[in-house]
Amino acid sequence: YPSNLQMEESSGLKQAMCRAKGGAPGFKVAILGAAGGIGQPLAMLMKMNPLVSVLHLYDVVNAPGVTADLSHMDTGAVVRGFLGQPQLESALTGMDLVIIPAGVPRKPGMTRDDLFNINAGIVRTLCEGIAKCCPNAIVNLISNPVNSTVPIAAEVFKKAATYDPKRLLGVTMLDVVRANTFVAEVLGLDPREVDVPVVGGHAGVTILPLLSQVKPPCSFTPQETEYLTNRIQNGGTEVVEAKAGTGSATLSMAYAAVKFADACLRGLRGDAGVVECAFVASQVTELPFFASKVRLGRIGAEEVFQLGPLNEYERIGLEKAKKELAGSIQKGVSFIKK
Ligand code: NAI
Repeated sequence: YPSNLQMEESSGLKQAMCRAKGGAPGFKVAILGAAGGIGQPLAMLMKMNPLVSVLHLYDVVNAPGVTADLSHMDTGAVVRGFLGQPQLESALTGMDLVIIPAGVPRKPGMTRDDLFNINAGIVRTLCEGIAKCCPNAIVNLISNPVNSTVPIAAEVFKKAATYDPKRLLGVTMLDVVRANTFVAEVLGLDPREVDVPVVGGHAGVTILPLLSQVKPPCSFTPQETEYLTNRIQNGGTEVVEAKAGTGSATLSMAYAAVKFADACLRGLRGDAGVVECAFVASQVTELPFFASKVRLGRIGAEEVFQLGPLNEYERIGLEKAKKELAGSIQKGVSFIKK
């Protein structure tokens, strides 16, 4: 009998040949931190995504176990596992999209910024690998604090002379997913019918839901606006406290990450009109990075949209958000430049 690896390779080859015949699109996707709380359900959902032909799962622990498990699913994507730093380059070579949920999550009482010391170094190492092995890949960065890890990644790519701002996207999709859910609850609607733009960043007051731009058009009382804004800004903390020391949002985050990754892949495929919120290099405000709606295309965030008309409550929120964001961005930049 062939070894498991040979069997996987030969079945992978057959599948790839089938796909080539049918002309079906297939992208190569790597998940870094694939054995973690987010990584595992994210890997499972990506294995189910018909746009994915090859799925590389990298982690410093347990990647072979997660890979063996997922490889038995009868979906199209071929799964390969990579364990530890010596295998990082093989995990990344040839990838179209790299999703990064590697790093420690929050415990009760912690802010996302408290994670900086550990996660900044992890993100730097992983991005150095991306610069070397797949400099043209789209990067979806989930590791917190996103407001600082995206500037860190940008500086690493600049140093390596591979930086393309369109290809680096901080994932703020969970804020949008939460906003859609909480707003739908208040309006008595199906959350799938609701679209709430969430701009700014991904921590506390930097998370700025634009409730005046909700679709379908609606209006809120001042109390509802206050309640919804607070709940959306503190949705992550709600989960951290409910999990009581065992971690932060993982399942809803995996769902949100796949929703966002799928949008990136549809953009790469050339679909028109793919628009989602993300934390990107931006000229929408005076800050170098800002989350807003972006149009996703063949080369990543091809267009970054302006914020549109804000009401008084949102204008005040925007000033608070910018103040905090400026510090977080600078902290990320200094980490690489120092
Ligand atoms: P976890 O601790 O369950 O999993 C993290 C995984 O990363 C572990 O499997 C660990 O072995 C791996 N890892 C650690 N160092 C690594 C390295 N150098 N290379 C590759 N893998 C490495 O944490 P969880 O819950 O999955 O969260 C991951 C990150 O996502 C955290 O930073 C968390 O704050 C963030 N997060 C971001 C959200 C967002 O909306 N952007 C929402 C929720 C969490």
